[in-house]
Amino acid sequence: MTSSALRQLEARIHADYRARTQASATLFRRAASVLPGGVSGNLRYFKPYPLYMRSGAGAISVDIDANDYVDCFLCNGPLLLGHRPPELAAALASADQVGSLVLNPVVLVDCAERLCALVPCAERVRFLNSGTEAVLTAVRYARAYTGRSKIIKFFGHYHGQDDQFLVGSGPQRQALGCGVPEAAYAQTITVPFNDVDALDRATGQGEDIAAVVLDPAMHSGGLWGTSQAYLEAVRELTTRKKIVLIFDEVITGFRLSVGGAQQMYGVTPDLATFGKALGAGERLAAVAGRADIMSVVDPAAGDPARRAFQSGTGNDTTRGLAAGAAALAAYEQRALDGEYDRLNGDAANLATGLMASFASAGIPCHVNQLASMLQLFLTARKPGFIAYSGLDQTVLDLYYLALLTRGVMLSLPTSNHVYLSFAHSDADFTKILAASDDVLSSYPFADAYSELTDQEIAHV
Ligand SMILES: Cc1ncc(COP(=O)(O)O)c(C=O)c1O
Repeated sequence: MTSSALRQLEARIHADYRARTQASATLFRRAASVLPGGVSGNLRYFKPYPLYMRSGAGAISVDIDANDYVDCFLCNGPLLLGHRPPELAAALASADQVGSLVLNPVVLVDCAERLCALVPCAERVRFLNSGTEAVLTAVRYARAYTGRSKIIKFFGHYHGQDDQFLVGSGPQRQALGCGVPEAAYAQTITVPFNDVDALDRATGQGEDIAAVVLDPAMHSGGLWGTSQAYLEAVRELTTRKKIVLIFDEVITGFRLSVGGAQQMYGVTPDLATFGKALGAGERLAAVAGRADIMSVVDPAAGDPARRAFQSGTGNDTTRGLAAGAAALAAYEQRALDGEYDRLNGDAANLATGLMASFASAGIPCHVNQLASMLQLFLTARKPGFIAYSGLDQTVLDLYYLALLTRGVMLSLPTSNHVYLSFAHSDADFTKILAASDDVLSSYPFADAYSELTDQEIAHV
């Protein structure tokens, strides 16, 4: 940041943030001496120092200075039922009665049955611990099943931390961060999303392509989503070329609809991966899909020469599985009650309200909304993945930081991920919009934004 209006904006917001988060400042100094950046994941860090949280209940989280926040970050999405949802209380209490890890607990089967009943592609399921693990496991199943080795992923799609998926998570092939070996690039073919011809060219006759993997929301690339027509074309193409189609539903699962993106778009993949909302705050992930493909890990089935390995010491945690089973029951009930439509309507209204708030401040703002998720872009550019990928986020990050000083965690600065939960109420949305109007009129955002835009234009 070089310009004076931006510096002034940052200085004022940082001062207000520091004034109300002294305990976080103190803990950060301790944390930074034992944790890189004082945190356990890069998105959790932001300047001048991260918040450290004490607790959460419903749509509210509380930091260690005892400040309350209307929480729309929700630990990056999993808390679709809010913090400590009452629907999970009995299940978690009974899990605590039996121990956190026992071999093959009954709740393992309960949770699997519920998932298979809700998700169209799910004939069989295996549980794991994280979305990252689920996606890399699904790809291994696909490789074992097809005997092929390469995968196709799309620019702007994030699938967790495994090397092969960090390639092309932005608009270029360049992997996200350093430390990714050349071999990962060799196995991963990257293709523009929502472009059937590009996928057709990249897949050739199928040849060595084991799987096409996609996040139907394109969440990490800006929440651009997709269409039923595109997914149908991808489905037809992958079937014809005998390529395994994997929907990574770590973000979209149980959020776009109770049956995920595959139910919402009416297109059934061969395999799908789940995490986040599946455990509703407890640790749980899954790979689900066609019985014949999943049989590659069945120790009692088929040809041992084609068998794939899959394991995981923590795959049986009773807390995770009990939470998963209870959360799936809760999502099913919400769907029956029409609550998904209500929530998605609230998200649309919030998007409109936020754009109006920025318009009043003289700052152009475009909001991408998909179901109960939002992402904001401060620009007058025509919406598009490539056009928005290089946007300078400085002003937006400061906006999120300023909102924290008003008791609203719309997102974390550095993340731009906004999620609503069934626990949010009209009062929460009113508070968010009032806080937005307040920070945009109290701080010199418009000056900083126009300075940034001038720099951007000069740069072009
Ligand atoms: C689409 C998608 N897939 C996979 C992952 C990885 O999940 P986890 O962070 O649980 O490893 C994420 C995480 O944000 C994601 O958004």
